[in-house]
Amino acid sequence: MGKMRVSSTFVAIIFMVNYLVGCTNNNEVYNNVEEIKIGVTVYKEDDKFISTITNNILELAKKKEKEENVKITIDILDAKENLANQCNQVDKFILNNYDVICVNIVDRTSAATIIDKAKSSNTPIIFFNREPVEEDMRRWKDVYYVGAEAEKSGELQGSLIIDKYTSDKSEIDKNGDGKIQYVMLEGEHGHQDTAIRTEYSIKTIVQNGIEVEKLADDTANWEFAQAKSKMTGWIKEFGSEIEVVFSNNDDMALGAIEALKEAEINNVIVVGVDGVTEALEAVKNDEMLGTVISNSIAQAEGIFNIAYSKATNGDLSDVEGLEGKYIKTKHIKIDKNNVDVYLK
Ligand code: BGC
Ligand code: CA
Repeated sequence: MGKMRVSSTFVAIIFMVNYLVGCTNNNEVYNNVEEIKIGVTVYKEDDKFISTITNNILELAKKKEKEENVKITIDILDAKENLANQCNQVDKFILNNYDVICVNIVDRTSAATIIDKAKSSNTPIIFFNREPVEEDMRRWKDVYYVGAEAEKSGELQGSLIIDKYTSDKSEIDKNGDGKIQYVMLEGEHGHQDTAIRTEYSIKTIVQNGIEVEKLADDTANWEFAQAKSKMTGWIKEFGSEIEVVFSNNDDMALGAIEALKEAEINNVIVVGVDGVTEALEAVKNDEMLGTVISNSIAQAEGIFNIAYSKATNGDLSDVEGLEGKYIKTKHIKIDKNNVDVYLK
């Protein structure tokens, strides 16, 4: 009995010491972490914008490893547009004791199952780019979202057209009827950015007193090839009637530009969103009027900072831009005037 009492007192002392260290000296606890493991699953690996985010996360991890002398493992898995795959990947991360899981979810309306898995294993979860519905975000305290202010991207895209209309009206309104005849290449249906960008780009233009006429709109699922084929069809259907191509992202805008080149048309105005390098080059070469940078560096930083803090000391108070459970990054409007600054 005596022995028992001694050992439980000993355990209690160890516990107290740990507790006090934890309370009084965060650095000590933090420095004790030797390795952290972050699991990332993306809806589709060859999405240009998503791969810029994941590459940035890898860079940030490399830098942090050196600065803090901690081993950081980041595993990035491709769900190949299949939610069941993605759920299995989350299970695998949980089974292998990953500290944090980051999810670019295949279907943003189906986050509940994944959140519940994270909750029951007490693994913090960070969604990015594809925003779960609010109701799901409330299912557990350790659920976060990092993305961009979608409304703003649409507004800035619209304002690229307003700028051009104001400075060189005849270069946009080629038939001089006082209206902008346009086609709209939409992203994947169900993605928050698709509906919001489509709505806000046009709304911004109309609110500025410029009339528009939609010739056609359709989804090309964020993809270059699908956009190129849609645009080829529209060129056949509408020919020189098309004055502006609005695209919900750059990759589809680049697909439309390819179709225009093949049809040897060079007076149609194209605008995109994302700010991927190929699009910035197209702006520089006058193939594209402009784009809107969705800050993939800031988004990667947001994801990585939450993940790192959660995996080490758990303290999110230093995470820049975090409001409640959300980080929403700002956009930058790009046209010929400022593209050089961002091409570097
Ligand atoms: C980007 C697209 C990307 C999509 C993937 C959007 O925010 O603009 O380029 O394909 O996210 O979810
Ligand atoms: Ca016109």
